[in-house]
Amino acid sequence: MRLAFVLALLGVMSGTATMAAGITPQEYRQRRAELRKSLDGVMILFGAEEPDDLHTSFFQESNFLYLSGWREPGAVMLLTQQTEILFMPYRDLRMELYTGRKLGPDDPDAPKLSGFDRVMPKSALESAFLKVLETAPRVYLIPGDLRGQKLKSLAVFHDEADAAQAIARLRMVKSSAEIELIAKSTDATVAAHLAGWKKTRPGVWEYEIAATMTNVYFERGCERNAYAPIVGSGPNSVILHYAANHRRLDSGETVVADVGAECSDYATDVTRTVPAGGKFTPRQRELYDIVLGAQKAAIAAIRPGVRLRADGASLHQIAYDYINSHGHDLHGQPLGKYFVHGLGHYVGLEVHDPGDPAAPLKTGTVITIEPGIYIPEENIGIRIEDIVVVTETGCKVLSAALPREIGDIEKLVGK
Ligand code: GLY
Repeated sequence: MRLAFVLALLGVMSGTATMAAGITPQEYRQRRAELRKSLDGVMILFGAEEPDDLHTSFFQESNFLYLSGWREPGAVMLLTQQTEILFMPYRDLRMELYTGRKLGPDDPDAPKLSGFDRVMPKSALESAFLKVLETAPRVYLIPGDLRGQKLKSLAVFHDEADAAQAIARLRMVKSSAEIELIAKSTDATVAAHLAGWKKTRPGVWEYEIAATMTNVYFERGCERNAYAPIVGSGPNSVILHYAANHRRLDSGETVVADVGAECSDYATDVTRTVPAGGKFTPRQRELYDIVLGAQKAAIAAIRPGVRLRADGASLHQIAYDYINSHGHDLHGQPLGKYFVHGLGHYVGLEVHDPGDPAAPLKTGTVITIEPGIYIPEENIGIRIEDIVVVTETGCKVLSAALPREIGDIEKLVGK
């Protein structure tokens, strides 16, 4: 039996939340060990607190989750080259009436269940911090975290360094377990898009399509949307992050559906553009084929060493050049100016995972490739987005099972 499973089982039995599914405790340990090797100081990471409103569920802060898999609120992590300590709050029995049992730092199983050899009460954080300061020249914090700033005020003569940037260097390259989880979210999302296509026809509301799609992955146990679902028809198809989803589809329009699941903590991001009435108009076909051509050109160029977006050669430039050298707007002008966003971004625990778009891609990097053309004057928006993992020789398209050729799409929409 895998250790992660045993730990999860122990957690269920004791009523506590434990490690994230799919990533082993050994992998979390390795991530911390790798990070600690490069630390010339002390890193303090604050986990997410229990939300105090009824709208929000508890989700762990993504850097904290990446390094620990710990899913309980209020924890703090202290890392140096020599040591790692998880600080936990004492149990709050009143709060547990509402949110369930938690693990306290005095529980003898806390080290085994958390994967940290040293677990201490959160009340000991300040004194432990002051002690390591004696040998730590700088303090790594997540920028903007006020809890970190408060602690840093005890160390005014120490330099501050960016913890998020240091962790991002690791997060940019995914392990095989992470890639499997992203693939799982992507499979659920592909099924969601196919269900959405069935539902798509003139007269249907955008929110009905969004509901059909998200239901598919929620029924599979995915815990949340990776981002607010975008289903934009006609005039809404040109709004990049349109998420109101409150318009009725008309025939003759394009519908941009940018919807993705987060399952077992890992996000995906997939977009397709389909004709509301099941058939693209000749103008929509022309524009669709240009976006698809740009996407294919960029995907064909992916390999380790190329850059997503940078001065000079980049995948973005390849897609832009393709769009700008094919077709015209109603005024005879090239179409490059209608490709108004970046070609892609890193994906992982977050849909916009940290990572430098100008850095050379590495094997194991997961990114989206999503060119688009948005022409308000014509009420036509078209975006085609796939998620890919960079391999030693090129890339693998994780969302390849979702058709993107016009003929295949027209066979499925509304049927
Ligand atoms: N799919 C939404 C975004 O990448 O911004």
